[in-house]
Amino acid sequence: MWKHAIEHALGVTKANIERFGDRIPHVSVDSSRKYTTNDNTEWTSGFWPGILWLSYEYGGDRAFRDAAARTVDSFRRRLTNNVRIDHHDIGFLFSLSSKAQWIVEKDESARQLTLQAADVLMKRWREKMQILQAWGPQDDPSNGGRIIIDCLMNLPLLHWAAEQTGNERYREVASIHTEQSRRFLVRGDDSSYHTFYFDQETGDSLRGGTHQGFRDGSTWTRGQAWGIYGFALAYRYLKRPELLETAKRLAKYFAARLPEDNVVYWDFDVPQTPETKRDSSASAIAAAGMLEIAGFLGEDDPDRQLLLGTVNKSMESLVRNYSTIGEEDAEGLLNRGSYAVRLGHSPDDYTIWGDYFYLETLMRLEKGVPGYWYERQA
Ligand code: GLY
Repeated sequence: MWKHAIEHALGVTKANIERFGDRIPHVSVDSSRKYTTNDNTEWTSGFWPGILWLSYEYGGDRAFRDAAARTVDSFRRRLTNNVRIDHHDIGFLFSLSSKAQWIVEKDESARQLTLQAADVLMKRWREKMQILQAWGPQDDPSNGGRIIIDCLMNLPLLHWAAEQTGNERYREVASIHTEQSRRFLVRGDDSSYHTFYFDQETGDSLRGGTHQGFRDGSTWTRGQAWGIYGFALAYRYLKRPELLETAKRLAKYFAARLPEDNVVYWDFDVPQTPETKRDSSASAIAAAGMLEIAGFLGEDDPDRQLLLGTVNKSMESLVRNYSTIGEEDAEGLLNRGSYAVRLGHSPDDYTIWGDYFYLETLMRLEKGVPGYWYERQA
């Protein structure tokens, strides 16, 4: 089943190279089954190159490689010209574009570009609060003291830069931010806040809140998924047992709340009616994260069995019930992702990150290829 799903994904991606040209896909709107595209200006622009690198790795087709390499040129221009890089998602942007090129081909200029991107992310460090600020300029009244759970996925860029350069400061910043996230974003029942605020004057912790979730105290399913994968990656780099424990707890919370068809709604606390939107992207991200966790657990560990079973049933449902297999001219791989339901942004649509994590999970299952968050083991 995985092989068939990958081959379908590669077919769609091949057609998309022609359709998109040098434009980069983001989300669809109004369930149009057409991606909106941009000139590499969004936080999501790394996922398309990530899909292209994975597609190239699957069968060695140079058409995917050449399209992926062209996007890296575009990322070089984006960094040089400072185009919308003043946010924490610089990690997503460059991990899946230039860092992927380094991992796949050992291209030195791609490595250098990725190191420059890590330096841009470091500029978001706020000493007083001991955090990496997610959004907005320093001292911004609403976002100046704000962290978000998604940021955990951007930290592998810093860990990688520490490995590459020997400069421990990258690792230290990532490590402290991870601990702040563990303390303040993860709640006692293993659910999570999407965002958390600190006092910019004193550095004190203030309160949890949400941006894309149902309400401030709810658990936004995609946020929980970012946490599952993010803490698992933090454990890979930092090897602190409590990080694996946190990743596992978040994953078990997620696994225990799957609806009947094993693909989550957009928030765990939203009232469920026949109209409630799903977020297929959250299930795809969580599946990739659960595989990352399972890799650290012994064969007989019951948690490993639980997580692998969850991945299997979620992915089976994504392939059978949510993928675009059998749909003529579909541009996306997964239907029924949601960007921000409460805010009215693409509540039932393609999301390029959902497509990326769906393909990454398939590639992990079929080929053992884990994406571009860390160097491959020899
Ligand atoms: N990182 C933003 C989102 O998940 O929508």
